[in-house]
Amino acid sequence: MKKVIISLDNHKSEVYVGLNWNEVRNFIPASGCVIITDDNVYKIYGKLFPDFPVISIKPGEDSKNIGTIVTLAEKLLDEGIDRTGFILGIGGGVVCDITGFLASIYMRGINFGFISTTLLSQVDASVGGKNAVNIGKIKNILGCFRQPRFVICDPDLLLTLPDDEYLSGLGELVKMGLILDYNLFEKIENNIALLMSKDADLLESLISDSVELKASVVREDEKEISGKRMILNFGHTFGHVIETVASMKHGFAVAAGMVIASGISEKLGLIGLEEFQRIKSLLEKLNLLKKYSLDDNYFQEMLLKDKKKQGSLISFVLLQSPGRAVVRKMTVYEIMNLYRSIKKQV
Ligand code: GLY
Repeated sequence: MKKVIISLDNHKSEVYVGLNWNEVRNFIPASGCVIITDDNVYKIYGKLFPDFPVISIKPGEDSKNIGTIVTLAEKLLDEGIDRTGFILGIGGGVVCDITGFLASIYMRGINFGFISTTLLSQVDASVGGKNAVNIGKIKNILGCFRQPRFVICDPDLLLTLPDDEYLSGLGELVKMGLILDYNLFEKIENNIALLMSKDADLLESLISDSVELKASVVREDEKEISGKRMILNFGHTFGHVIETVASMKHGFAVAAGMVIASGISEKLGLIGLEEFQRIKSLLEKLNLLKKYSLDDNYFQEMLLKDKKKQGSLISFVLLQSPGRAVVRKMTVYEIMNLYRSIKKQV
């Protein structure tokens, strides 16, 4: 078991990797707690939840909207939850976002924690304190920063994940290696068979690596002010558009976005052709590259609406090498021209 502490100005978040999730009883208050989960998680694990009121939402990205937040807030009021209350989110990225956002605004903010049940949320989404919901197809447009008190990442929970949900998590894991740690990238490359068989020891070690990396970024730039945190958006500028239009799970869309961003990095002379091919080949071997077809004009229109755009510039994340990312401010037109020039290779 590994404990990673994210200490920030006046708060602290603790992430436990490899801890049995039943230990959560040692982390939550004896009363005044409500559990938020989704129907899939509840069906499998609900009987084993701590004995507190449970609110279960419909699984999937469509639940991540302000209407859900209002409905859940009304339920918290019905349960008599006050400012001393606690919300425990048990689920993947969507449950974590909803729990974190709700807890951040309910009575101007109450404490919360997560049991993270998907690979995607264990390696990325449950850690870091960004909480948001979507407006229509525009992702994470209403949000805030507030850290969970604790996050439990128990790899045993991953054994019941549907295959595509598991693979989707691998997309974010590869991202962590590509932007921050060549050794992690190589460890994934060298262990594809074990990874595909969900080897428990390997998973625990990869999740630990990823949480450590994410924690180091969040400690340095919790609120995306210095720009360091922006590198976590690698593959996401195009990925978010692909995700909404091609209806793919997040990690698959990020994989497609990472191929585009790596292709653009190659075109700009930052990485070599061999490195680009190596990255694409790893994503292919992990079954992460799905076919999609998208109209260039639509891409452009959506990039113009990107929430990371400042004036006419997008902070676009590129690779300097596998394991090292760099952020460059570019106009949507520059990005689109580069995209058009590499479209056939990606
Ligand atoms: N909750 C996701 C993040 O902070 O990046």
